[in-house]
Amino acid sequence: METNKRIQRGRLQTGRRDFLSRVGSISVMSVFGAAFFTSCTSESDMLPDNEPNENEEGILINNQKVTIDLAKNEGLMASGGWMLIREAQLLVVNLDGQFSALTSVCTHSQCDRNWTFGNQVFTCTCHGSRFDTQGEVVNGPATQPLKSYAVSEENGNLIINRS
Ligand code: FES
Repeated sequence: METNKRIQRGRLQTGRRDFLSRVGSISVMSVFGAAFFTSCTSESDMLPDNEPNENEEGILINNQKVTIDLAKNEGLMASGGWMLIREAQLLVVNLDGQFSALTSVCTHSQCDRNWTFGNQVFTCTCHGSRFDTQGEVVNGPATQPLKSYAVSEENGNLIINRS
């Protein structure tokens, strides 16, 4: 009888060990599975390549065309108002009602997100290159102008064609 209890206790302990071992394996798989699942389902992975991407600020990026809803981007309505659209690598500025659009990829070392604007000059703060509102170099280290794009207005939208 005593031997039977020991055997049963041994089976119980072995059973518990097996159980904990399996739970541990499942937990580890769950963690790796979650990481894998997360890395495979980020928002950008789920968007088809040619699907338009509109952010909450009323900016639609569709391949070479960027559409800005001016009603949702009032900062661009005033003369001197400007914006950097990082997703589109684009600088846009209002010049007394005329708009200018330039690439935000600096021709010096390709910084695309550290810009300021003042006195009609864009400054890439990565190394201090300055460009006028048409993209021409005001001072280096950059030596090449920023690419500029055609801009038109249609039904309250600013349309920038990057082709
Ligand atoms: Fe713009 Fe160097 S990358 S100044």
